[in-house]
Amino acid sequence: MKKILISVLVLAGLLLNLPLRADEGMWLPLLVKRLNYEQMKKMGCKLTADEIYNINNSSLKDAVVMLSGGSCSAEAISAEGLLLTNHHCGYEAIQTNSSVGNDYLTNGFYAKTRADELPTGGITASFLVRIEDVTARVLAEVNSGMSESERTAKVRQMYKTIETEATTGTNYNASVKSFFNGNEYYLFVYETFTDVRLVGAPPESVGKFGGDTDNWMWPRHTGDFCMLRVYAGKDNKPAAPSPENVPYKPKHFLPISLDGVKEGDFTMVMGYPGTTDRYLTSYGVQMALDLSNPAVVKIRDKKLKLMKEDMDASTEIRIKYASTYAQTANYWKYFIGQSEQLKNNNVVQKKKDLETKFQTWAGADPTRQAKYGSALAEIEKAYQDLRKITLNRTYLNEAVLQGAAVGSIAMQMSQLKDILADSANAAGPLAEVKAEVAAMYKDYNEPTDRKLMEAMIAMVMADIPKEMQAPIFDTIRIKWNGNVKAFVDDVYARSIFASAAKFNAFLDKPSLVVFESDPAAKFSSGVLDHYMKTFRPVITEIQGRIERGNRAFVAGLREMMPEKKFYPNANSTMRLTYGSVQEYDPRDAVEYEEYTTIKGVMEKEDPTNPEFVVPARLKELYKAGDYGIYGENGSLNTCFISTNDITGGNSGSMVVNGKGQLIGCAFDGNWEAMSGDIFFEDKIQRTISVDIRYVLFLIDKLGGAGHLVDEMKLMKKGKEVKRS
Ligand code: ARG
Repeated sequence: MKKILISVLVLAGLLLNLPLRADEGMWLPLLVKRLNYEQMKKMGCKLTADEIYNINNSSLKDAVVMLSGGSCSAEAISAEGLLLTNHHCGYEAIQTNSSVGNDYLTNGFYAKTRADELPTGGITASFLVRIEDVTARVLAEVNSGMSESERTAKVRQMYKTIETEATTGTNYNASVKSFFNGNEYYLFVYETFTDVRLVGAPPESVGKFGGDTDNWMWPRHTGDFCMLRVYAGKDNKPAAPSPENVPYKPKHFLPISLDGVKEGDFTMVMGYPGTTDRYLTSYGVQMALDLSNPAVVKIRDKKLKLMKEDMDASTEIRIKYASTYAQTANYWKYFIGQSEQLKNNNVVQKKKDLETKFQTWAGADPTRQAKYGSALAEIEKAYQDLRKITLNRTYLNEAVLQGAAVGSIAMQMSQLKDILADSANAAGPLAEVKAEVAAMYKDYNEPTDRKLMEAMIAMVMADIPKEMQAPIFDTIRIKWNGNVKAFVDDVYARSIFASAAKFNAFLDKPSLVVFESDPAAKFSSGVLDHYMKTFRPVITEIQGRIERGNRAFVAGLREMMPEKKFYPNANSTMRLTYGSVQEYDPRDAVEYEEYTTIKGVMEKEDPTNPEFVVPARLKELYKAGDYGIYGENGSLNTCFISTNDITGGNSGSMVVNGKGQLIGCAFDGNWEAMSGDIFFEDKIQRTISVDIRYVLFLIDKLGGAGHLVDEMKLMKKGKEVKRS
């Protein structure tokens, strides 16, 4: 599951009073020994706790990689810095390297030699050095008399001090993060590599097989993987991208099991889950259901239709918009599913039940009453206030900041104002901007962008109460007689941001006056400034109340259930989750098996639907039953499900067996548990992974890139084997 790419509603959360099963929980690796290890052993874990997480000796954690600050996860699978992640995590890199004549999205790509490996255009790979509990230090100067904004300022200041201390004199980077809604704090120190190259990817018809139709659903038949390689300086330390760099030697890489998986097998996932809201209150869930989720879906629905029209008409446009389209569609479907399953799984009522219990518990004791008695009422009141203005934030994010590119590029370039004002020193910075222009416009198609801008403006004007809209919308109503198309035509006719050529021409003859009167810049900064002045301070104040309430609520819940093992919400830090391979029953009279096979790929084939095209060569291999060492009983497994607790950001995470050998690569969650980020569904929530044997088959047999498999360490029945 790729991490959510829109700025998510900053909501707080809640945990329910159900017995915690093994499978629920995204555990902090440094606490696993204390909290989980005994149970993991019972479930089939053969590794020692120190083989999983140890900061002095190499351990499993050294093979776990955070990509680009947490958008995805990956794992080291060779001594030469080879990483495995999902196809959808490398999608943008594959797209960026593609052109009509060299379409790696359609055809796939495997580097024949190291020299053929491609730049990824900015993917970074971070390895965790250590984790430290810094709660006492962060909270040292915080007291209950402080206002929420004073508290936040103090906490942030401590973050900085601790992060600076942890990195001074090293090549590390560090970040302190809040856990349990501000009740605990941990420091994470990383070594981050910026030279990460694309090594291989299957064709999209395999890597994205099933497309948006199958997305977020089981049963699945997607070969959702790609490979990257981390490069380092000759000293094995991070170095800026350079041809001089050499493959990074990780402290640990994963051996690969060819033994396959069966129901009940122990599974462990380590990676970087992005965000969960498991402690969200019923008030927060209700607001998502009533307001934010439907708005996101409605706006994205429109954007997708407009992009698709143009993508279907031209290969060039299809390649340009492929990544933006996939990202938009991914969380469009996510929010549809989340709303549907919040209702189906009765999440509001489950939350209310816990809240009632909490209130009774708090009220039964005067000390508790003083500490926790008003938390829920404070949260409820805050949500009442937030509901009145929250859509302003959703529309700003979805329709303006991520609307037409002409507006977002203009916004990104707002720094031009300062650069141009300082004309004596402008030449250097302007040259830097100029060097970026081609990259900024690489996925831009003016006619598509125009349509997007017109549609997004019309939506804001129709859906947001007039008195809450930015003044620029009044201008459109008055000066342009409400003719949005005429306004938009004028923007593209006059704006310096309307094409790469126009922007380059401006940079050749820069002028502050021209920049300041640019219609695209005026539009986007007008909307943003209005939001920052009118809504941001109010929303920050309301959110402060929600945070304070939730901090007390979560602290109270932990006190109320002292015997229960609590785990913190995901926050893009390394987590471990363990469970087992398990089938499930999605609805009455229906059972879903725990694995799929290549037969299902053929069953789903539909040459008339681009989402379900099967490559000819794959069909040949299927007909010949040519699966080599990757098959099982004359067939080939493709994907499997397990009870591990993952979320967006975990995409590409390792799935290992009890011996720490790679059995799969996690890539999605299942439809029936789409509410799972807010409430874990014990019986039906599953992690969907691509079987590692399908991955190796695709590289070796379909891709003809066996040399990459030779780099890996393959294990069968306890012995190392070679491909043949
Ligand atoms: N839902 C998965 C995720 O969020 C996969 C997304 C890519 N697949 C797709 N059909 N768009 O990571």
